[in-house]
Amino acid sequence: MIVITGGKGQLGREFIKALNRAEVPYKAFDKSELDISSGEKVLSVIRDIKPDVIINCAAYNQVDRAETEYEMAYKVNVIGVENLAVAAKEVGAFFVHYSSDYVFDGKKEDGLYTEKDTPSPLNEYGKSKLLGEERVKAVLDNYLILRVSWVYGEGKQNFIHKLLSWAERDSYLKVACDEFSVPTYTGVIVDVTLKAIEQGLSGLYHLTNSGFTSRFEWARAVFEILGVDKFIRPVPSSVFSLPAKRPLFSPMSNKKISKELSVSIPYWEESLREFLGCLKG
Ligand SMILES: NC(=O)c1ccc[n+]([C@@H]2O[C@H](COP(=O)([O-])OP(=O)(O)OC[C@H]3O[C@@H](n4cnc5c(N)ncnc54)[C@H](OP(=O)(O)O)[C@@H]3O)[C@@H](O)[C@H]2O)c1
Repeated sequence: MIVITGGKGQLGREFIKALNRAEVPYKAFDKSELDISSGEKVLSVIRDIKPDVIINCAAYNQVDRAETEYEMAYKVNVIGVENLAVAAKEVGAFFVHYSSDYVFDGKKEDGLYTEKDTPSPLNEYGKSKLLGEERVKAVLDNYLILRVSWVYGEGKQNFIHKLLSWAERDSYLKVACDEFSVPTYTGVIVDVTLKAIEQGLSGLYHLTNSGFTSRFEWARAVFEILGVDKFIRPVPSSVFSLPAKRPLFSPMSNKKISKELSVSIPYWEESLREFLGCLKG
């Protein structure tokens, strides 16, 4: 039995689809059914179900709001994660958790970030995600922490959704051309996570699509694939004056997980075409 938290988020929904397809027994909870920041509630649900695996898709992901709402981010991304790890330990469940490329400062100059690089978050969201990782490691010996980046899938909490709504509203768009990472499809995260669980992988891994790009090139690719005829002006990210600082170059290498699972993870363009193909119907 698998327990999914954050079942209404992008990743939660993708897991539900995949587990339904594979006819794997699971129970999924959204925030109203299981608020992971309540230790008591988490323990009672997990004691009751006694799952073999807990997959935590719940998170506070409002990167800019976290600058002023740090306590909210901390409650979910640190306390909530610790609550789940403690409950997993009590019932002997395997714990799978997701972290972020925003644990890095983007200042690395020689290649993509690997699992050996030292995190140094620039913003409150990144700090909360890093602390969440540390709590998992402090509570459990056996766990899977998967750092993902620029996640998109069904749902609204992603760049593609925002881009398409800006395209409807504005005569031309401005998109940052100095921010680089890896757009990563929820379908890929789910496939690789399920393989990792099946093969008993544990530890910390970077799980992204292959390759990397800038936000500007990502936006251009979305419009090209969907045939959206709208001018995109490349601009430095500083023009947006956003509350949270972001790493300018945070692509992570997925080599370690690909090698250990003997899988070839698709390039970001390939998964983007697959996802947008589904959107177009
Ligand atoms: N999205 C990205 O670009 C990105 C980038 C790097 C890493 N990640 C990580 O990847 C993982 C999956 O992200 P995602 O894109 O699927 O996020 P998402 O779409 O924002 O989903 C997160 C879900 O968690 C729920 N949630 C918030 N607080 C909760 C609480 N206290 N208890 C239970 N559920 C709660 C949210 O509900 P509400 O919406 O109602 O608050 C939402 O349904 C997360 O760990 C995230 O930090 C995401």
